[in-house]
Amino acid sequence: MNLDRRIYAAIGVTAVLTVAITALLINIFEHKQEARQTWFRVVEITDDTDDPAVWGKNFPLQYDAYRRTVDMVRTRYGGSEALPRNPTQADPRDRVSQEKIEEDPRLKKMWAGHPFAADFREERGHAYMLIDQSYTKRVRDFKQPGACLNCHASTYVFMKTLGNGDIFAGFEKMNAIPYAEATQHVKHPVSCIDCHDPKTMALRITRPAFLEGIRAWKASQGIQNYDPNTMATAQEMRSFVCGQCHVEYYFQGEKKRLVFPWHKGLKVDDAYAYYQETGHKDWSHALTGAPALKAQHPEFEMWSQGIHARSGVACADCHMPYKREGGMKISDHHVRSPLLNINRACQGCHRFPEEEIKARVEQIQERFVGARNIAMDALMDLIDEAERARRAGASDAQLKPAWEAQRKAQFFIDYVEAENSTGFHAPGEALRVLTVALDEIRKGQISLRELERGATKRASSAPRAAAPAAD
Ligand code: HEC
Ligand code: HEC
Ligand code: HEC
Ligand code: HEC
Ligand code: HEC
Repeated sequence: MNLDRRIYAAIGVTAVLTVAITALLINIFEHKQEARQTWFRVVEITDDTDDPAVWGKNFPLQYDAYRRTVDMVRTRYGGSEALPRNPTQADPRDRVSQEKIEEDPRLKKMWAGHPFAADFREERGHAYMLIDQSYTKRVRDFKQPGACLNCHASTYVFMKTLGNGDIFAGFEKMNAIPYAEATQHVKHPVSCIDCHDPKTMALRITRPAFLEGIRAWKASQGIQNYDPNTMATAQEMRSFVCGQCHVEYYFQGEKKRLVFPWHKGLKVDDAYAYYQETGHKDWSHALTGAPALKAQHPEFEMWSQGIHARSGVACADCHMPYKREGGMKISDHHVRSPLLNINRACQGCHRFPEEEIKARVEQIQERFVGARNIAMDALMDLIDEAERARRAGASDAQLKPAWEAQRKAQFFIDYVEAENSTGFHAPGEALRVLTVALDEIRKGQISLRELERGATKRASSAPRAAAPAAD
């Protein structure tokens, strides 16, 4: 009897334990499943499937969010405003975002003689990247190369085809083809295949310009033959995929090779030193003649100077935060301003109320805009003074110090202006860059005043040897 009772008790305990262990195992299994994210292969996807709708059959949640990048919502300084327009044959878009050169005409003077002075709109969602590029005046009224497509379309399959399987060979060909011709061969904005390996769904880098740029940068730090596709951590890849496009760039030489100027480092000073060494100029400034540089969207570079990068926080953490849908944890493929999504984008790490987080961001942005406006006004003064000196007959040699000041100041201001977070990605760095620009402007103005003093002195001592008349 005693024995029986003990046996029954033992059986009872075992049963309870079994249930508990089974429950635990199920729980672990479910979490693993959730983490791994089971998917059903409804259709076959290959390394040539660039149509996102096909991928969408296997991954409907990611695809639905991806398609929502058509949404246009304004934040205080970011997002985009949906302006309705009458579609025409020349430009079939029925809505566009606001024109930044009309909002701030100083930009036109900064870019005088460059296509950006003709058209520069606020950027909007990924869904628009191909159509906005095709119909900007910068493409319609100016000759552009296929190199423009690198960041505005799903080009992976096109590059592979052009290069007979070798994306680097295809990249070189695509860059040099005229835009109007190259664009016939692409159909989609950035697509699943540009960021994902179709077999494993792992993130991957498909853009040769990034592979070359990051290799040059790592080499400058003593790391040879760096390849992010085999050497980067999973967390680094969550920023690198964005760094394929959200970066400063230029087109090198006759072949229009797309190059990221990272050979000396990722700071604006490093990019500038690289351009000084190579002697590159994007255009001659129409008012002053200065050999000028146009900066473009260096989000990756500026982010890398900020506290979030330093703390290991990736672009995707804020711009594609995790969300739960139907019991699954997925990445939000509706890439947009995190200020439209503070709860998931920030509050996982920052336990402040939403209003407080927003206010902190806007305070950073407001300070940045104030400093940027001061620097921009100063740049306008320098350009006016240099233009006057030129009209009064100053030679290129005499204008050289002012040109150098303008070239550098303008590149630095444009760099933080073109960076689309309005100072947020690296607040201290953004303000530092503006103070360097102000210092250059000061030096440029001093050089022009010295020139003027010299000219007045010469004019008063030998009136007939005055400077030649303006053209
Ligand atoms: C800590 C969060 C965070 C990280 C990390 C981050 N961003 Fe941002 N990003 C922001 C915020 C906040 C803004 C400002 C949005 C606004 O003003 O509406 C912004 C703005 C932008 C914008 C302009 C968006 C708009 O609506 O105007 C782009 C583009 C962008 N970031 C790209 C990137 C890229 C690329 C990376 C990584 C290299 C990155 N961001 C890393 C928070 C982040
Ligand atoms: C290295 C990648 C890259 C290359 C190359 C590139 N773009 Fe872009 N482009 C971007 C990114 C990122 C944005 C969004 C951020 C912004 O607008 O600042 C953008 C935005 C734009 C926009 C929308 C906003 C605006 O400026 O009106 C247009 C139009 C555009 N690009 C045209 C072009 C043209 C034309 C070329 C070739 C001369 C080109 N892009 C080459 C990355 C690139
Ligand atoms: C193939 C190039 C490419 C890649 C890769 C890319 N972007 Fe973009 N992104 C663009 C272009 C081009 C635009 C502007 C499109 C336009 O204005 O028509 C843009 C716009 C944006 C915007 C503005 C959205 C809005 O609603 O205002 C954000 C934010 C952004 N990108 C973040 C990211 C992040 C984060 C990643 C990485 C997960 C990323 N992008 C990857 C090219 C790219
Ligand atoms: C600009 C780059 C980019 C594009 C384009 C893109 N993704 Fe992703 N995707 C990401 C990032 C970043 C993650 C997060 C991966 C990680 O954390 O390792 C991700 C994760 C995923 C995952 C894993 C589960 C999850 O949600 O975290 C799936 C599945 C996925 N994407 C499907 C798609 C599909 C389908 C498309 C096209 C409709 C697409 N992606 C387009 C960047 C991209
Ligand atoms: C993955 C975690 C993570 C996410 C997501 C994140 N942050 Fe942070 N944030 C940090 C860390 C870490 C710091 C460094 C300070 C600290 O350790 O608390 C920081 C610092 C800051 C600071 C102070 C900046 C400074 O220069 O001192 C602000 C403001 C901020 N975050 C805003 C945001 C906003 C807005 C978002 C969402 C768009 C966001 N963060 C998303 C982790 C995160």
